[in-house]
Amino acid sequence: MVLCLKVKKKHGETLIKHLKDSHKLNTEFELGKTGKYLLIPINSKPKKEILKNYSCEIVERNLQKIKRTSPKTLKESLAGILKPEQIEKVNSSYDIIGDIAVIDFDDSLKGIEKTIAWTLKRTLKNINVVARRRKKTTGIYRIKKITPIVGENRTETIAKEHGVKLKVDLNKVYYSVRYSSERLRLLKQIKAKEKILIMFAGIGPFPIVFAKKKDVLIWANEINPAAVKLMKENIKLNKTGKKIKVIKGDAHKEIPKLKQKFDRIVMPLPHTAHEFLKEAFQVSKKGTIIHLYQFEHEANLNKMKKRILKICNKLKQKVKIKKIVRTGYFGPRINRYCLDLKVL
Ligand SMILES: C[S@@+](CC[C@H](N)C(=O)[O-])C[C@H]1O[C@@H](n2cnc3c(N)ncnc32)[C@H](O)[C@@H]1O
Repeated sequence: MVLCLKVKKKHGETLIKHLKDSHKLNTEFELGKTGKYLLIPINSKPKKEILKNYSCEIVERNLQKIKRTSPKTLKESLAGILKPEQIEKVNSSYDIIGDIAVIDFDDSLKGIEKTIAWTLKRTLKNINVVARRRKKTTGIYRIKKITPIVGENRTETIAKEHGVKLKVDLNKVYYSVRYSSERLRLLKQIKAKEKILIMFAGIGPFPIVFAKKKDVLIWANEINPAAVKLMKENIKLNKTGKKIKVIKGDAHKEIPKLKQKFDRIVMPLPHTAHEFLKEAFQVSKKGTIIHLYQFEHEANLNKMKKRILKICNKLKQKVKIKKIVRTGYFGPRINRYCLDLKVL
């Protein structure tokens, strides 16, 4: 018998994402189905608020064990090294950025983090640093700092996504592999010869992926000097210099100075991107597509729509919300959304 959450199918996808991110999904077993419900295997009981938020209940059921031909998971590799109750507390998910693996540790694992990190390093190929994530994303630069605990003592690496190389120092700049499928979604919409503004460009993943794959011209703005320096290095590394113009500084000040009107504007700063709509409209024309990112509770999508339309009204700019797409997870039932707006 396996501990499961029984949840209505319509909540399944977001709950699985939440369980993955909070390291409670039991990845040893297949999902089960019964009528309108999904049975999601878990490795420990989630908080009461999760049960309430997703209207789900804890049950025990027989589920099929996943047959693996692939290498052992971290938890499997820890069997015989740690006690089962300790293994239960170990995260089965971690981020891989270049040759750095970043993992969070439960507070109860104090003192045995190194053992876990060594085991993770042995489990993975081509990893030279295992680091723990320090708690929160901080400041206007949105940095998620890490502390290397095993392997080489560095926070710099070269990440790869969609055929481009991105030099990054995780303790100086923001970079997340969790945006990479979103870059692909936008890439598919981009037409030849578009002029694109990327606000909040960080070390350059949006501009460089677009410039590498499409015949476009890009303006990339970023406030963090360390990110600007890395973005310039990354542009050279990927030979995209002819297509990208870097604008250093605060978007509030720098965007209004631009003489261009853009076909597409990307605004990947979900906490506060809406505060920059005024500047985005100053460099828009009829038909400009704006990709505006926001964090929101999944029950409040209508409120989010209204909030954004109210801001546009106040700025006397007519827009049409073409689409709202869930592009990432932030917390229990709170997701990162992209509003695809068309300037009318
Ligand atoms: C969530 S990160 C996204 C970075 C990048 N687009 C990526 O996907 O990796 C947001 C970025 O916006 C930058 N930023 C924050 N406030 C800004 C402002 N007022 N003007 C320009 N950039 C800003 C931060 O330094 C950070 O690099």
